[in-house]
Amino acid sequence: MTDKKASLHIEGHENVDFPIYEGTVGPDVIDVRSLTGKGFFTYDPGFVSTAACESKITYIDGNQGILLHRGYPIDQLASESDYLETCYLLLNGELPNKEQKEEFVETIRYHTMVHDQINNLFSGFRRDAHPMAIMCGVVGALSAFYHDTLDISDERHREIAAMRLIAKIPTLAAMSYKYSIGQPFIYPDNELDYSANFLHMMFGTPCEKSKISPVLAKAMDRIFLLHADHEQNASTSTVRLTGSTGANPYACIAAGIAALWGPSHGGANEAVLEMLEEIGDESRIDEFVNKAKDKSDPFRLMGFGHRVYKNFDPRAKVMKETADEVLKELGLEDDPLLKIAKRLEQIALEDPYFVEKKLYPNVDFYSGIILKALGIPTSMFTVIFAVGRTVGWISHWNEMISGDYRIGRPRQLYTGSPKRDFVKVEDR
Ligand code: SDX
Repeated sequence: MTDKKASLHIEGHENVDFPIYEGTVGPDVIDVRSLTGKGFFTYDPGFVSTAACESKITYIDGNQGILLHRGYPIDQLASESDYLETCYLLLNGELPNKEQKEEFVETIRYHTMVHDQINNLFSGFRRDAHPMAIMCGVVGALSAFYHDTLDISDERHREIAAMRLIAKIPTLAAMSYKYSIGQPFIYPDNELDYSANFLHMMFGTPCEKSKISPVLAKAMDRIFLLHADHEQNASTSTVRLTGSTGANPYACIAAGIAALWGPSHGGANEAVLEMLEEIGDESRIDEFVNKAKDKSDPFRLMGFGHRVYKNFDPRAKVMKETADEVLKELGLEDDPLLKIAKRLEQIALEDPYFVEKKLYPNVDFYSGIILKALGIPTSMFTVIFAVGRTVGWISHWNEMISGDYRIGRPRQLYTGSPKRDFVKVEDR
């Protein structure tokens, strides 16, 4: 809180003063809650200028291309930390010491299996169901298996739900893939670390022992880490709004998965690959760049632009380095899609349209290249995003539920019909 105030002059009304609050860093906020009492609402479709909550978890500076998780820059976490350590940081606010880390990793390791009855949920889906459709269903269904820990006012219940979700989401993700290709589900292997275990459950078979490349497991871990959290994005805001009604954490995460699915959000990584495959050859890049600039054409350059970043998405920089490492490890440096992606990025970053509108590559631009190189099918790309983002969702949910919160209930500008009387059908 500061003693700074904003004063609003409205024709025909007395001035209205609003308190201004300062954050640790970033823009100050104007508390407009008293405006309703003056007979007005603020109007901000898409919440471009609206801070919906106070949070200590992640800070983004879109102009500087800065992303901090509990104060630590994303590039330092990506190079020095690992996904589960970052999960601990996001959930608890501090990096774990050696004992805390070992205990956290062990807790996750021994909660990766799912109730065997969940296997039956999959058989209700067609084999060609999109894995995100399956994830929406099975994650929401988890609440049917944990009646013992659904009291959201109980800190221990919230902690158990967080551990279960972080531990089980990779298992359910891999199961949704196995189901789609008609292969048996592969149980978690407690000998493997989190990301290697995910690749084991994705690509292992009962017929042979998995051989997981440490380089590819590290790349998978970095993908999860780079997707872990991102302030009040659409899916995280969905989780918060759902949680504000008192819904259980599994239902809230299922709502987040549904919101993430859209191609403007987490579905963009799948859309980037489809776009690169449609471009097909470097000679056609200009054609697609022109389509993206054509106002009459709904086509957008997938993997470019961001509501907040008006500079390089810091995650895209790390993702690009990882893409080079993975393709080198796999001997795919000449991957045609990577060549198209790099050429497209170069053209877009020089094109006045993209420069003026500050449209830079975002986290989704390179992640698809890496996932494809890891052998993950395009339909699983957004599922991978959901696996990484679950810790962000549950951290924001826990931050809200453990503090003061009210049910989220936005208002509107009504432009529909004024009051009118009902007309009987014979008189219409
Ligand atoms: C994620 O919020 C988060 O933090 C999300 C995320 C996370 O980690 O949670 O970072 C993950 O969702 C990344 C974004 C992935 N989406 C895509 O890559 C899809 C392509 N990008 C866009 O659809 C768009 O850029 C958005 C949705 C990401 C942002 O949309 P905004 O902020 O509402 O911006 P806008 O649509 O108002 O665009 C501003 C202008 C418009 O032109 P004008 O009307 O001003 O003339 O830029 C144009 C747009 O037409 N524009 C693009 C473009 N993105 C915006 N033109 C061509 N290609 C694009 N990709």
